Amino acid sequence: MVVTNEKSVSEAIKYRRSVRVFKNEAIDTEKVKECIHLATLAPTSSNMQLWEFYHVVSPEIIQEIAKASFDQNAAKTAQQLVVIVARKDLWRKRVQSNIDYLKTQYGNKPATEYSKREKFALNYYQKIIPTLYFDFLGIIGMLKFLIFQVIGIFKPIYRQARQSDMRIVAHKSAGLAAQNFMLSMAAVNYDTCPMEGFDSLRVKKILHLSASAEINMILGCGIRDEKGVYGERFRIPFEETYIKI
Ligand SMILES: Cc1cc2nc3c(=O)[nH]c(=O)nc-3n(C[C@H](O)[C@H](O)[C@H](O)COP(=O)(O)O)c2cc1C
Repeated sequence: MVVTNEKSVSEAIKYRRSVRVFKNEAIDTEKVKECIHLATLAPTSSNMQLWEFYHVVSPEIIQEIAKASFDQNAAKTAQQLVVIVARKDLWRKRVQSNIDYLKTQYGNKPATEYSKREKFALNYYQKIIPTLYFDFLGIIGMLKFLIFQVIGIFKPIYRQARQSDMRIVAHKSAGLAAQNFMLSMAAVNYDTCPMEGFDSLRVKKILHLSASAEINMILGCGIRDEKGVYGERFRIPFEETYIKI
């Protein structure tokens, strides 16, 4: 039997808080890396994995990013930072990786011998996904959106095909990875603070990110100081947000 002192999922969920002040105590880079690895196991739209994870361990870069994050305590006192980047622009590369993976799963046989299910999956990445992701200055996306609205009068159809919709698709999945990461950290008694309060242009420059890369979240990492959690957890009464149908 493997003995582990990691928290259960519900324990980790309850333990996780947004920590604004971290102790001046080093955390294990390998453990954080393992939590990033667990983050990549999050579900992702069409398994496109349009994300990258920048694990910042350099104290100088952390301070540069903290400055670009309005000197927030959660960044300034962090021992390490994880920057989750949405890479919608990598869609062609990810489509190819999915196709290559599917083919390895199908084995070495001619395409004519593929089953219906196998053909459907390949078609999904070869035709449907490129139809959704291909765009030019947002114009094709808008055209697709309008065409889908018309088709949608007659039958159910996927409607979110604009450039802005596809950004949301990439950010949604990146957010799930962020939550996986924070809970994995909580499970091993490490703390985090998700942040969107930063100057994205400056942080992108610091990390040498391309113009098309979009920062989803910056996560401060460390061990909570006793004054690091600003008060009790506040949530809107559950009955107000829970709707049973
Ligand atoms: C997308 C996102 C962005 C956030 N940005 C910041 C931030 O810039 N600075 C900060 O101190 N907290 C930030 N937070 C933390 C929230 O304020 C916090 O999650 C909320 O108050 C609930 O507290 P809890 O996480 O301790 O349950 C952010 C949280 C999320 C999910």
